[in-house]
Amino acid sequence: MATATKSRNATSKRNTTTATSRKQPVTTSNKSAVSQTRTSTPNAKGNQQQSQNKSEQKEEKSLLDKLFVNMLKDIYWAEKHLVEALKEMEDNATTDELKDAFEDHRIQTTKHISRLEKVFKLIGEEAQAKKCDAMEGLTKEAKAMMSETKEGTMTRDAALIIAAQKVEHYEIATYGSLVQVALTLGHDKAAGLLDKTLQEEEDTDLLLTDIAESFVNPMADDEDVNMQSSSEEDEEDEEEEEEEE
Ligand SMILES: [Fe+2]
Repeated sequence: MATATKSRNATSKRNTTTATSRKQPVTTSNKSAVSQTRTSTPNAKGNQQQSQNKSEQKEEKSLLDKLFVNMLKDIYWAEKHLVEALKEMEDNATTDELKDAFEDHRIQTTKHISRLEKVFKLIGEEAQAKKCDAMEGLTKEAKAMMSETKEGTMTRDAALIIAAQKVEHYEIATYGSLVQVALTLGHDKAAGLLDKTLQEEEDTDLLLTDIAESFVNPMADDEDVNMQSSSEEDEEDEEEEEEEE
């Protein structure tokens, strides 16, 4: 699966691309430093001009920097939107195990939001949210899955897990990419924070797989096609009670 590969790559690179190993690669700034030393002459005016150009270059953000900030704004919106969606999914889940998993991840998601705010601060940007079409679409799909499955059934939980895992895979792909871009830009502290969130998204994905495989999917498979939801059963009981009276 593409997202899984991406995240594994991110993890392996995470372990090898450390701050120490990143000190040595020849970067554009290193290159100019080298050439500056080589061409260094007693021409003071020329040197002054050169260092002025260099500081101007530093102040100007690269296109990758801008892309990084845009990606942060996108996932910041997505995480905020997800807090509300997870509450709805928790309320609509059948089993306590899945309700608990959604509740725990909702609390974790609020931490992901504050971590992103720290990242914005670290890179000197204001925390701003930009609408994430992907997350909007994924949560819309989750809503549709809720309306297409019966309340109180295991099939409802199976559907909710699928919807939640689509969200997790999107987040894993996003955070995996953000970690790598942050490292490339030299934002090592920010990369560390984003990596923490990446690990939590991966753990949530694994937990959901475990819930699905251990009991939700097998029990959903045993469910009667004509099975009534718990609310339908309650309504029927009430009708019977009324008739008896
Ligand atoms: Fe998250």
